[in-house]
Amino acid sequence: MTNEQNGTVLVTGASSGIGLATTRQLLECGFSVLGVARDFSKAEISHANFHSTEFDLASADAIQAGLPPLLKSLDRPLRAVVNSAGVGKMGYLEQLSVADIQSVLAVNLLSHILISRLCLPVMKQQSVLSDLIFIGSEAALTGGKEGSVYCASKFGLRGFAQSLRMECAKSEIRVSLINPGAVRTAFFDELHFEPGDRAENAIQPEDVAATILSILAMRSGTVVDEINLSPRKRVWQSK
Ligand SMILES: NC(=O)c1ccc[n+]([C@@H]2O[C@H](COP(=O)([O-])OP(=O)(O)OC[C@H]3O[C@@H](n4cnc5c(N)ncnc54)[C@H](OP(=O)(O)O)[C@@H]3O)[C@@H](O)[C@H]2O)c1
Repeated sequence: MTNEQNGTVLVTGASSGIGLATTRQLLECGFSVLGVARDFSKAEISHANFHSTEFDLASADAIQAGLPPLLKSLDRPLRAVVNSAGVGKMGYLEQLSVADIQSVLAVNLLSHILISRLCLPVMKQQSVLSDLIFIGSEAALTGGKEGSVYCASKFGLRGFAQSLRMECAKSEIRVSLINPGAVRTAFFDELHFEPGDRAENAIQPEDVAATILSILAMRSGTVVDEINLSPRKRVWQSK
């Protein structure tokens, strides 16, 4: 398929991990990608159909100011939005600073709500199939020690995605949520724990990306509401 037929996919968190792996697979499959993150210098993506824009998704003002001009400038239909940007700040609640709490809720939940709010009218106006895909987490399904705020952000995202799915049911827009367990990415760089070293102790970001591509390839009459992915053997280790 040509790029024009495949359209553009907006990927948040495209500079690293799941978002970066997804961007690479989308480009290989002929999509155009508009990537959003704060810093693409680490990503090494060079492709004629890749365009990046750097802004801080913790800032509602930056989203409100930065996204509409980008959406207006698209020369292909907006085929999908992959909401992957996220941060993990783990610890007992009283150990987290107010700034940590605000940044987790702003990036993991509010940014996805605001981006969806801005993209929905564009997608509805196109009247062609489009997908809103959210990266949730196993932390969207079960609470856990040292995860109170992170889980709150992901439980919130799950409720948001389920509700949006109902709101979009009469349009051409599908809404999907992917809930991975441990994925081997830079997500753990600043945390005091990480998945075990063996291959079966963590999902690879490319596995999540392949799941996203399979959602896009799904027959238009079917919606993938939610997918849970887990490492075959769950092992966590302290650093
Ligand atoms: N890794 C796991 O085990 C795991 C498991 C379940 C769910 N998840 C979820 O998967 C998603 C992707 O995480 P990952 O594992 O791929 O981690 P990652 O490699 O650390 O990637 C996180 C991405 O989010 C972007 N980001 C973070 N804060 C941002 C901000 N304020 N403004 C703009 N972009 C920001 C980062 O870009 P910049 O730093 O360049 O801004 C980066 O591209 C997250 O929502 C995470 O909660 C991860």
